[in-house]
Amino acid sequence: MAAKETYNYRVVRQFAIMTVVWGTVGMLVGVIIAAQMAWPALNFEIPWLTFGRLRPLHTNAVIFAFGGSALFATSLYVVQRTCQVRLISDRLAAFVFWGWQLVILSAVITLPLGITSSKEYAELEWPIDILITIVWVAYAVLFFGTIARRKTPHIYVANWFFGAFIITVAVLHVVNSAAYPVSLWKSYSVYAGVQDAMVQWWYGHNAVGFFLTAGFLGIMYYFVPKQAERPVYSYRLSVVHFWALIFTYIWAGPHHLHYTALPDWVQSLGMVFSLILLAPSWGGMINGIMTLSGAWEKLRSDPILRFLIVSVSFYGMSTFEGPMMAIKTVNALSHYTDWTIAHVHAGALGWVALISIGAMYFLIPKLFNRPLYSMKLVELHFWISTIGIVLYISAMWVAGIMQGLMWGASSADGLLTYSNFSDTTKASWPFYIVRLLGGLAFLAGMLVMCYNIFKTLRGAKAPEGTADARIANATAS
Ligand code: HEM
Ligand code: HEM
Repeated sequence: MAAKETYNYRVVRQFAIMTVVWGTVGMLVGVIIAAQMAWPALNFEIPWLTFGRLRPLHTNAVIFAFGGSALFATSLYVVQRTCQVRLISDRLAAFVFWGWQLVILSAVITLPLGITSSKEYAELEWPIDILITIVWVAYAVLFFGTIARRKTPHIYVANWFFGAFIITVAVLHVVNSAAYPVSLWKSYSVYAGVQDAMVQWWYGHNAVGFFLTAGFLGIMYYFVPKQAERPVYSYRLSVVHFWALIFTYIWAGPHHLHYTALPDWVQSLGMVFSLILLAPSWGGMINGIMTLSGAWEKLRSDPILRFLIVSVSFYGMSTFEGPMMAIKTVNALSHYTDWTIAHVHAGALGWVALISIGAMYFLIPKLFNRPLYSMKLVELHFWISTIGIVLYISAMWVAGIMQGLMWGASSADGLLTYSNFSDTTKASWPFYIVRLLGGLAFLAGMLVMCYNIFKTLRGAKAPEGTADARIANATAS
């Protein structure tokens, strides 16, 4: 490109493309481990293909590589557009992009080798943790530096959510990763026993709250109004939503440690704050969906808007389910079962993945200045991914509740009805097959997206005069 663009779209383009690439890779690994749950022999007795090593590879790939790239792409786009100023430094932006890819590459190599700190969602060993910290600080300087140079008096609410995500993730990462290194690839946590568990789940829950929620709410507040061509339903509600959400989330972590050695009052505190969390979560969800008021008919013709709005509905669903599961008596049934996995993927596939996909379909044509190759393929993607999610989560709900009930069942004289663990495993088998089918459908949707984006980048056009060509041109303008 000859003249320098007003905004730095290069880094946004890079992250947008990697969102699609890492999403596909991470979900492929998800499908492999889903197949292994049905047929364990699929590890072929090769250590680096075992479930225990591929599972953290899946979670790291989908959360940090896919979700992370979507958040970098959108936040760096939104901050420039809403502050009407270019990123403060092109070099720093390039450093953030390549640094994050290096983090991902290190994860892809070390996790299958079995190099792990064994803390969930924080498995990477200390040298990689240091790299993450450096890249994250560069990202914070880039983002907040740009806000400081803004030409607008106001800081749009999406930036507040991105900002909270950046600051909180920095604090969580540094505190939870504190460790004594004993060799280049092995370290031990500085915390011990129940304190270690509490710090870990303070981190784990807020990774959900700030990485998988606050940042994606930033996406919602920019991309839903843009795609719907309507202002946010209530700006005042968005500000209340922001403060209430960030204040409440930070206390809810102990719901991951019900019935453990954690003091009882801390568990109850976690439960109460989780129940309170329903209110700001639903306030935000309603604000997102109601942005469409007066323009509901757009849902019929615009599959990109459908991705965005259905994702906000899944957000509402999983933030209703979460507080219910945090109630101690409900958790007694759900904990250790596949109900948790259903909840995770209602949030992860329904909310995080769908909103990221919608945002990428919005962004990529604009960033590359060409219409999407095919809107029909976007439509197809929407339907197969929605069917995939429904298959995945309903199978895991049924399996999870069944497992909880079977483990708790006892005869009149107090003996366990199902004393062999394999009884529940056998009963769960059909549901693992259905989950696999759901995962395959979701992955197929991602492959359709890859094809559509590839053709878009090649400048391919849908055949002239077709409905596809008309819609595609309209979206890009
Ligand atoms: C094709 C799509 C996907 C499939 C087939 C899939 C499959 C799986 C499987 C089989 C597990 C292990 C469950 C177990 O241990 O019992 C898992 C765990 C997990 N997945 Fe996925 N997944 C997919 C997409 C995603 C996405 C997009 C995200 C996040 C954005 C995600 C986040 C997670 C998390 C956080 C866990 C750990 C859950 C826990 O420890 O409770 N997954 N996934
Ligand atoms: C009001 C909001 C929410 C509350 C109160 C909540 C509550 C809970 C509870 C009680 C559990 C089960 C803990 C256990 O028994 O071990 C859980 C697990 C989980 N939730 Fe949520 N949830 C919420 C929203 C979400 C959202 C939106 C996502 C995803 C984007 C999500 C992702 C997860 C993950 C990944 C786990 C599994 C953690 C693990 O054990 O590895 N949650 N949540």
